[in-house]
Amino acid sequence: MKGIEALDVTGKVVLLRADLNVPLDGNTITDDGRIRASLPTISKLRERGARVLITAHLGRPKGDDYAARAAGGPSLAPVARRLGELLGRPVPMAADVAGESARATAAALEDGDVAMLENIRFEPAETSKDEAVRAQLAARLAALADVYVGDGFGALHRKHASVYDVPALLPHAAGELVLAEVAVLEKLTRDPARPYVVVLGGAKPSDKLGVIANLLGQADRILIGGGMSYTFLKAQGYEVGTSLLEADRLADVRTVLADAQARGVELVLPVDLVGATGFAADAAHEVYPVTAFPADREGLDMGPATRQLFAEKLADAATVFWNGPVGVFEFPAFADGTRAVAEAISKLAGFTVIGGGDSAAAIRRLGLPDDAFSHISTGGGASLEYLEGATLPGLAALA
Ligand code: 3PG
Ligand code: MG
Repeated sequence: MKGIEALDVTGKVVLLRADLNVPLDGNTITDDGRIRASLPTISKLRERGARVLITAHLGRPKGDDYAARAAGGPSLAPVARRLGELLGRPVPMAADVAGESARATAAALEDGDVAMLENIRFEPAETSKDEAVRAQLAARLAALADVYVGDGFGALHRKHASVYDVPALLPHAAGELVLAEVAVLEKLTRDPARPYVVVLGGAKPSDKLGVIANLLGQADRILIGGGMSYTFLKAQGYEVGTSLLEADRLADVRTVLADAQARGVELVLPVDLVGATGFAADAAHEVYPVTAFPADREGLDMGPATRQLFAEKLADAATVFWNGPVGVFEFPAFADGTRAVAEAISKLAGFTVIGGGDSAAAIRRLGLPDDAFSHISTGGGASLEYLEGATLPGLAALA
């Protein structure tokens, strides 16, 4: 994969696909990690006299056509403002994605300037499954620029026009963030230092069964917590009350449990749970062993014995990958499990990788410094698909 050094960018309009999909509270950005992570490529391009035109998505706008989506938002305007603050110069934003305003914005760029296009997902064609529909939007985007740089790591698993189709139309290269993230994933995949311990949380086993299946051939130990663990516990015959459950995945989960055993991979599940009377920050709750979980309680966190067990199972790790909170950490009363996992990993001297949005947000919310970990990925979904062994469309397009 070529980096941006391989491209002639001086005086050229560079269409830069970034992942600036940040969490918003109204118009306020609650975590600007993805904007900061995009700065190295933007700065390098500017230093070389490129005219940087950024395309990115924000959220999942709803509506049948452009007008409905643009009216409903979210606009990328707060992101352009924040990027301007970080760069120390305003970042103008086009009022559309690939129309008259986009063309005028591109034409107004001078060497070293940075501007942005509106939320690419205002164009329904961006995410269309119809190649011809995507191709039309890709052609309109490509017409705005001379070269393309793909740096939106967190969106590389999406076969979208701005990620997958545009690079085929322009000279292209991978940005600094994509190269850095891929280097980490390669390190995890090729001969990781052992023991290699993986911690998986998050709501649903269905999101993770593929990656677990592939990790059974790579990891030494897989710790499963959070919402997805209840389906695993149920598959082993335990009562899980009203906890999150994917009943239609019980058979798949049993297959994974059997495979793990056959391959000698240690699969570690909670031994106790915090059972609450309902899904609420102030719900009454108690700790129960998984062998005696009441039918009318909902699991919202792992219990103290599990926190200790997970910390022990992490203590000798030389390589760690963690994706997904292991409890409802947004509610302080149910954040202890996630905190225990984050703290246990933060103490390790080995190569520790935090994979993606929710786990990264959890770490920052719990007040742990970013530099307590070897790498905090900007892409949860993209990392998981890579570790699953899938070909990421956006990565293939940059090859
Ligand atoms: C993310 O936030 O995971 C990436 O930006 C991709 O967004 P998406 O899941 O809406 O495609
Ligand atoms: Mg996502």
